[in-house]
Amino acid sequence: MQEIYVGIYVGTHSVKVAIVEERLGGEIIVRGVGEAKSDGVVRGNIVDIDKAEKALSSALSDAEKMADIQAREAFLAVGGDGIRTLSSRGITAVPKDKDSIDSTCVSEVLQAARAVVIPSEAVIIDSVVREFVVDGQGGINDPVGMAGARLEADVGLLIAPRNAFNNLERTAERAGLVPNGQAAAIRGCGLAVLTPDEAEIGIGVMDIGCGTTEVGVFRRGNLIWASSIGYAGDSVTKDMTVGLSVPYEIAESLKLEFGCALQNSVDMSEMVNIPGVSGRKAQSVERRFLAQIIEPRLEEIMIMCKDLLFEADLLNKLTAGVVITGGSSLTEDIVPLAEKVFNLPVRTGVPSLPGEVPSLACTPQFASAIGAVLAASERCHRADILESNDSLWSKIRKWFVKKI
Ligand SMILES: Nc1ncnc2c1ncn2[C@@H]1O[C@H](COP(=O)(O)OP(=O)(O)OP(=O)(O)O)[C@@H](O)[C@H]1O
Ligand SMILES: [Mg+2]
Repeated sequence: MQEIYVGIYVGTHSVKVAIVEERLGGEIIVRGVGEAKSDGVVRGNIVDIDKAEKALSSALSDAEKMADIQAREAFLAVGGDGIRTLSSRGITAVPKDKDSIDSTCVSEVLQAARAVVIPSEAVIIDSVVREFVVDGQGGINDPVGMAGARLEADVGLLIAPRNAFNNLERTAERAGLVPNGQAAAIRGCGLAVLTPDEAEIGIGVMDIGCGTTEVGVFRRGNLIWASSIGYAGDSVTKDMTVGLSVPYEIAESLKLEFGCALQNSVDMSEMVNIPGVSGRKAQSVERRFLAQIIEPRLEEIMIMCKDLLFEADLLNKLTAGVVITGGSSLTEDIVPLAEKVFNLPVRTGVPSLPGEVPSLACTPQFASAIGAVLAASERCHRADILESNDSLWSKIRKWFVKKI
């Protein structure tokens, strides 16, 4: 039987909606996508529900028309600069009358791990299992079927500000959608842009958007940690308004057309025309000057992410390097800049999907929305995954492996 999943993501720059169909056998077909300019969103958090609802309704209506489907429920990708990971450990005794650990034991230990005190202004939006430990033996992905007396789970609880999350749910409801689950947006980004091997051996994903940069680490086929900072493409554009003395819109369009993340790779002879505004004369500046504004800000954002990874003791676990996604990953030469900062292999990532896919869905900006539907599918198959001993990627992305 086919399943329809609707994913929504409210970003600082734009609201994105994806509608997909999952066919029998796991193949995922994108049926519709929609995007609308955000208003009332600051650093990924909704501050004006009326405006956010209007943008969501517009993006939803475009996606519904393309898909020829009326959406009733939606899975929420939760982003914003308040995403953090709290570590927790659950412990349970395996009943003596059981020969081996079963899914009930797993549910119990995960429930125990979630029963921790979190800050009152925060809410758990997602959780990640780093490893199970059976009778002191760690590094276990799936303990079901193993013999043992004591089961432990090392879990990361992903938290977001309670108000921000409530506002996201309310916005969806006011747009006529019933929220049917949620996941950290960076989890979806990983599902959308990583290869199974990368997710298995260890990799960082950095989603550099407009108002926030979210960072996550994937290992053994799963998200194990996530965090965020409140700086991204918007900070770059604001720096350009100051450096060039131009309004935001002009700085933004100059960034998109002529921006570069590495000043030394821009030829000294390249010039850019800056339109005159408010009675000022038009001027011509070296394109390298634009890069001299862009590079330090992007470098600072990357260093902040690197520091977060270092503090979480994960920097040395990124065996496959780093993948950058989100709209700001389109900046020319962002890869060599990131390689310099992280001293690791870096690539940019866009959602990789089978068949004929609307071009909008294959952009880095859409990784979170496409990721939301993949995370919805993952959630739906979670029980099968636990029982089948397959890794997440092999179950959800069978078609993806074939394609690669
Ligand atoms: N070609 C480009 N070069 C540089 N920056 C770009 C380019 N295209 C888009 N961007 C930047 O990408 C950002 C928008 O990306 P995205 O849609 O991923 O953000 P968002 O998800 O809405 O916001 P956030 O994740 O911060 O809440 C904007 O700041 C925009 O300037
Ligand atoms: Mg984003």
